[in-house]
Amino acid sequence: MKNNKIELFNYFLGLSEPQHWMMASNERFTIVGILELLRPSLALELGYSEGGCTEYLSKYSKNVYTIDTDQNVLKVSELFDNVIPLEMTTEKAFQIFFRKKMRFDFCIIDADHTTEGAFRDLRDAMKIADIIIMHDTSNPQCRVGYKLAMQGKDVYFDLDLLEGHIQTDGLWGGLGIVMNIKSGLIENRLTKKFSTYDLLIKEFEAKAKSHKKKKYIEMNRNLLKTLIKKIINKIL
Ligand SMILES: C[S@@+](CC[C@H](N)C(=O)[O-])C[C@H]1O[C@@H](n2cnc3c(N)ncnc32)[C@H](O)[C@@H]1O
Repeated sequence: MKNNKIELFNYFLGLSEPQHWMMASNERFTIVGILELLRPSLALELGYSEGGCTEYLSKYSKNVYTIDTDQNVLKVSELFDNVIPLEMTTEKAFQIFFRKKMRFDFCIIDADHTTEGAFRDLRDAMKIADIIIMHDTSNPQCRVGYKLAMQGKDVYFDLDLLEGHIQTDGLWGGLGIVMNIKSGLIENRLTKKFSTYDLLIKEFEAKAKSHKKKKYIEMNRNLLKTLIKKIINKIL
């Protein structure tokens, strides 16, 4: 934990080293805001990595379970004494939780980023967690998985609680929320919100196209330069 406020703020903005939290700064601020409001009794984290998010789950929750297939997760016991690590797949962890009839008041999903993984994690989390936050709802594979898991379920959800962003390797980030309360509550919203995800996809496609075009022009320019050099060398 950083003691100096400016140091902490710089860390949240991604300006200082080392960075353990694999989320964008707006996502970090949002998650801490949610945790500050909820102060969960028992929180569940799917995807520990280097424990960036775990640090704040530990700070705001009474107890936390964190799951990761990487053995690095076991180090968490030395760092935060209210966090229990499980080194296994989330699929296996859910089997344990189901068997023990455990319930969590908060869950954050950021583990297997395939469609199947996102689907499975959200489907299982919805069975035992009250409020669920999903990371990378802007990633097309994850988004499809999350949507599939919610199909036919009467829950409140918003896949664009926080919109994601365009990176050179695709669309990533974004936070979604699912709550085990009747979706009828959605009618109580002050303003209706429309998703701008389709626009984000279009923007990404346009950027990718122009990036490819630039690369193609650059490649041909380099080819032409070498050809000219060869010709000049031959003439001289
Ligand atoms: C993106 S990182 C998590 C980052 C973390 N939430 C943060 O913000 O700092 C994803 C993690 O999920 C783990 N993971 C991937 N598939 C998994 C699975 N099926 N079960 C458990 N952990 C998994 C990876 O080992 C990796 O550490």
